[in-house]
Amino acid sequence: MTNKHQTTLPEGKVPQLRVMPMPADANVHGDVFGGWIMAQVDIAGSLPAVRRSNGRVATIAVNSFVFKQPVFVGDLLSFYADIVKVGTTSITINVEVYAERNRLQVETVKVTEATLTYVATDEKRQRRQIPPVAE
Ligand SMILES: CC(C)(COP(=O)(O)OP(=O)(O)OC[C@H]1O[C@@H](n2cnc3c(N)ncnc32)[C@H](O)[C@@H]1OP(=O)(O)O)[C@@H](O)C(=O)NCCC(=O)NCCS
Repeated sequence: MTNKHQTTLPEGKVPQLRVMPMPADANVHGDVFGGWIMAQVDIAGSLPAVRRSNGRVATIAVNSFVFKQPVFVGDLLSFYADIVKVGTTSITINVEVYAERNRLQVETVKVTEATLTYVATDEKRQRRQIPPVAE
């Protein structure tokens, strides 16, 4: 292993999103802009929240967000999202992002970890209760 941060993709888990940042997603230094990563994390986290709440959700809080390693244009990013808490109207999700760098000799690095809270909302954008788990 050449990179002490090198790891593998989580075994047996399916990413919510896989996407490759393009040059338009870079900051002035040529690396990927943190705000672009935050947007993808928000989308990835919302997917299990929408499924569990059986309807629309709104992001109420970004509880934590850590950019552990830089992301480069052309990295293949995988976003894994797991429900960590279900409240009365809210669902808290942990999102982990891995980058696969270099097409030929793949190097996998965990780049980002975040926790976000989503609130289930109705058609009037008011909070609603999370339904019980479907049988
Ligand atoms: C979502 C919204 C309708 C909720 O209404 P609200 O009156 O603020 O809701 P509450 O204060 O009762 O909080 C709702 C839930 O969120 C949780 N919550 C509130 N603030 C939180 C925070 N800072 N961190 C984590 N959870 C939080 C509450 O604990 C509650 O959870 P529970 O019902 O499971 O116990 C309203 O906040 C809203 O419209 N926000 C804007 C959402 C949005 O547009 N997001 C996109 C980004 S701009």
